[in-house]
Amino acid sequence: MFPVDRPRRLRRSGALRRLVAETSLAPDDLIAPLFVGEGLSEPHPIASLPGHVQHTRASLRAEVGALIERGVGGVILFGVPVNKDEVGSGAYDPAGIVQVALRELAEEFGDTTVLMADLCLDEYTSHGHCGVLDARGVVDNDATLELYARAALAQAEAGAALVAPSGMMDGQVGAIRTALDEAGFLDVAIMAYSVKYASALYGPFREAVNVEIAGGGDRRGYQMDYRNRREALREARLDVEEGADIIMVKPAMTYLDVLSDLAAGLDVPLAAYHVSGEYAMIKAAAERGWIDGPAVALEQITAVRRAGADVVLTYFARELAEELAR
Ligand code: PBG
Repeated sequence: MFPVDRPRRLRRSGALRRLVAETSLAPDDLIAPLFVGEGLSEPHPIASLPGHVQHTRASLRAEVGALIERGVGGVILFGVPVNKDEVGSGAYDPAGIVQVALRELAEEFGDTTVLMADLCLDEYTSHGHCGVLDARGVVDNDATLELYARAALAQAEAGAALVAPSGMMDGQVGAIRTALDEAGFLDVAIMAYSVKYASALYGPFREAVNVEIAGGGDRRGYQMDYRNRREALREARLDVEEGADIIMVKPAMTYLDVLSDLAAGLDVPLAAYHVSGEYAMIKAAAERGWIDGPAVALEQITAVRRAGADVVLTYFARELAEELAR
């Protein structure tokens, strides 16, 4: 018999496979996105994200406690305000829902978890765009930067360890870093949504935060074009130069090539956001019995790590942490 190379030798038992596995996944690699609603008397289920709710301040504190107990690495907050306006003032008002929630979480949990806040205007603007509009109805990049700087300060003052600008305005990381430094928040980190594609996979999220973009509009004027790969490195490098501590790619599964490029080309921690549509697709197919939901979730999130992400933002964070503990 001719000598055959036999890679299957190392697949013979679970113990062998575990020993030689190239990629690991642990709860502390995961960040849980959480929604907090203003003025709610009880948690409000989100139909498009089964298992998730708009939290009350109390149920949010309980959920964060449960996530810490399960070893989940961090949480990122999204606010659902009662009132929206042209300039999204709820994003930077010290009494805005996310700022109030952050203060309570910081007081209760301190640094036992990493408290993060999504930094954007879209949940707070009446027109649903990520920035303020100029006279022609177009998002005004530089006017928006001033408001992002105010939001960063409000979030840092409220106790965020990390702010995460997601609006894809040019110069947003530099504007936020400068504002934080000038106010003495030298230790507050920035996780930049640097490589955020204009994706159809954010649909369930927009239902979760009651965002409707005015006039059936979209975000293609500021989020990246999914036909582009090289441009990702350009966006990421700019953000590193402006002071980003962690670079994020979003969504995850359709951009593993991009993640892999950034892992090779950058020397900062990389995050990937497995977004609402990715979660909802798995949940919906599993509900019909067409796929094994937990197995597909584990496979996908592990693949995101394999492609180069150090941390993964995922709506499966709690479920996966529970499964990994078994
Ligand atoms: C903007 C923001 C969005 C998401 C995270 N931050 C929505 C958007 O860009 O339209 C989407 C997250 C998801 O789909 O899970 N504040």
